[in-house]
Amino acid sequence: MSTTALRTVSILGTGSYIPEKVITNADLAKIVDTNDEWIVSRTGMKERHQARPDEAASDMGAAAARQAMESAGVTADQIGMIVCASITPDMPFPSTACYVQRLIGAHNAFCLDITAACSGFIYALELAKNAICAGQVDTALIIGTEKLTSVVDWQDRQTCVLFGDAAGAAIVGARGAPHGIRATALGSDGRLAELLMLPGGGSRNPTSPETIEKRLHYMKMSGRDVFKHAVTRMIEACQKAIAKAGLTIDDIALIIPHQANLRIIEAIGHRLGAPAEKYFINIEKYGNISAASIPVALDEAVRSDRIKQGDKIVLVAFGGGFTWGAAVVEWDKN
Ligand code: ACO
Repeated sequence: MSTTALRTVSILGTGSYIPEKVITNADLAKIVDTNDEWIVSRTGMKERHQARPDEAASDMGAAAARQAMESAGVTADQIGMIVCASITPDMPFPSTACYVQRLIGAHNAFCLDITAACSGFIYALELAKNAICAGQVDTALIIGTEKLTSVVDWQDRQTCVLFGDAAGAAIVGARGAPHGIRATALGSDGRLAELLMLPGGGSRNPTSPETIEKRLHYMKMSGRDVFKHAVTRMIEACQKAIAKAGLTIDDIALIIPHQANLRIIEAIGHRLGAPAEKYFINIEKYGNISAASIPVALDEAVRSDRIKQGDKIVLVAFGGGFTWGAAVVEWDKN
């Protein structure tokens, strides 16, 4: 382990895993009172994927992690830290990160989960960056993995059409050059916690026949409120992070926003001032995959050559808590 203080930190490799089964808008229209036109016009979503019954968050996370390790040229024994972001962990404990560790054989790592909903990957990136900057570890594996189809209420058309399952991962490591993660801006507001939550099953409302009858084990969302705050906070986070990096929006080659709603992304784009082609969008294929959203999109952007060496990109997310965050990254993989 290095003791070098304040090193620069880069994303060295990315990976993703998308379960095979596809749920189309037409499939959803057979389950709840909805239709393709409503879903596409209100959200931009056409399909989402569903994990197999025997597939948990750690299985998907490990598959994404293996790809990220391969793309970074890093072996399991080199990983010093695994941070797993999820609101659908395998179970309350042990952590999903420990299960991923076991699946990939990264036995030199210390492992933890974080709960920051859709902002989870940005939070994981921040933790990994700080641990590497401080010399605590040299290489970290960060993962966003979600099996949201296991926590949506399939009787509630306002939420069940929005979410899907997937995992994304990145290897983060120390670099000599002053590139990599240039700046971050994170925030939370617990005063608004009730607007987006899964109220049952924890110490506040332990699982009981009553909590199940009240359907408290499913996600609850006040969509319009979340929409409004998401737009405001994601713009604010982008502007702060870009300014901290000493850049302007014109310097940014690509913005990868959390894929919660196409209209949210368009509203951000309109107010940030960058042209539409600078926003990476894949919401039509996956719906909202929460903490997996940013790493899956990042991996797709890298693999489709939307990001080139030296490009300055912005990752930005908003989620339950509320939580939000943005990171400005100068792409430095080679
Ligand atoms: N199909 C058909 N009609 C529907 C559906 C549906 N699936 N869902 C709701 N409706 C109806 C409503 O009942 C309502 O009908 P009414 O006017 O007769 O009452 C009408 O459509 C409009 O409903 P709204 O909720 O006002 O629709 P809105 O345009 O706000 O879109 C949506 C809803 C898509 C949820 C939007 O508010 C949104 O995207 N919010 C943000 C979600 C988000 O960003 N989440 C991120 C974090 S997620 C996380 O952290 C895990």
